[in-house]
Amino acid sequence: MQNNSYSALVIEEASPDTYAGNIQQKNIAELPQGDLLIRVHYSSLNYKDALSASGNRGVTRRYPHVPGIDAAGVVEESSSSEFKPGDKVIACGFDIGMNTPGGFGQYMRIPTGWALHCPANLTLRESMIYGTAGFTAAQSVERLVDFPIVPQKGKILVTGATGGVGSIAIALLASMGYSVCAVSGKPDAEKFLTRLGAAEIISRQEATDSSEKLLLKEKWAGVIDTVGGEILVSAIKSTFYGGAVTCCGNVASADLPLSVYPFILRGVSLLGIDSAKCPVHIRERIWQKLAGKWRLENLDILIKECKLPELPGHIERMLQGRQTGRIIVNLL
Ligand SMILES: NC(=O)c1ccc[n+]([C@@H]2O[C@H](COP(=O)([O-])OP(=O)(O)OC[C@H]3O[C@@H](n4cnc5c(N)ncnc54)[C@H](OP(=O)(O)O)[C@@H]3O)[C@@H](O)[C@H]2O)c1
Repeated sequence: MQNNSYSALVIEEASPDTYAGNIQQKNIAELPQGDLLIRVHYSSLNYKDALSASGNRGVTRRYPHVPGIDAAGVVEESSSSEFKPGDKVIACGFDIGMNTPGGFGQYMRIPTGWALHCPANLTLRESMIYGTAGFTAAQSVERLVDFPIVPQKGKILVTGATGGVGSIAIALLASMGYSVCAVSGKPDAEKFLTRLGAAEIISRQEATDSSEKLLLKEKWAGVIDTVGGEILVSAIKSTFYGGAVTCCGNVASADLPLSVYPFILRGVSLLGIDSAKCPVHIRERIWQKLAGKWRLENLDILIKECKLPELPGHIERMLQGRQTGRIIVNLL
């Protein structure tokens, strides 16, 4: 860093409704007010970042903007009694990377309540392999485990299987002894999904029943859905009596054209998942699990590591649904 300047991926409106990102030198003095100045070491790419980088005003209202809903780094300045310079922190969700400059810059300044101490047995790099996607996968898995849906009840369906949330959900479930059926649109993903622990792989077409039937044959003890739309509708209609379905994403669609029958005739539960405003005590519990008893040993098979200049290409691939696993960003 020279003269308080640092590098960041800045998204700007290049022409009306066209957004482009390039690496710029920013100044720390221009960061918003906040209790903690953090030197970001690693970030990761999430679907919300791809939306922010493509001008989605539901995610980011003002441009130029530095996206990145995830960051892991070291506190450089603190006006909070909870953190001191040198502390390793994870900062994910809240307004980070939405309308507050995020983890695609080497520095960020945020309020105390948006940061967590990085668990001792997790490196900053490992924390970003999980990132918001892994955290959301773990939240979803925890809801099914606590429901409880036990492995003996039957198969768990995971949609958007090669994506960030889907791939980590599969790995977590498999490590706990669940039999996982993965839904993927990528015909060449079999090896990747099998290594993660999927017992069965089906195509998006096989997971979608376009008939008007109100209920379908019962197949799933539980479902972790990351895509929404018709695949989620078919999954809910195919869930066992008393089963549970988590819902966190909308890459396919935000619509849910469905009758009440799965809920009132089969007692199926639809469990909503939100990571951005998740309370701190739940965040701490989930991160401790990811660092401890739920720790995945095969994390490196999930990732591609990149530097800031390579991010726009990865963002484009994510918007096209062509990304596999997790992209982590090295800002050192
Ligand atoms: N609620 C929350 O707090 C929260 C937190 C994190 C993420 N999310 C949401 O969860 C979703 C997944 O996030 P992510 O980070 O895992 O994204 P991602 O890495 O881009 O993965 C999404 C996956 O969905 C599948 N997919 C893509 N387009 C599809 C389509 N048109 N129809 C069906 N499947 C499609 C693809 O997997 P296959 O090719 O294997 O099918 C893709 O890899 C996003 O909507 C994201 O915004 C929500």
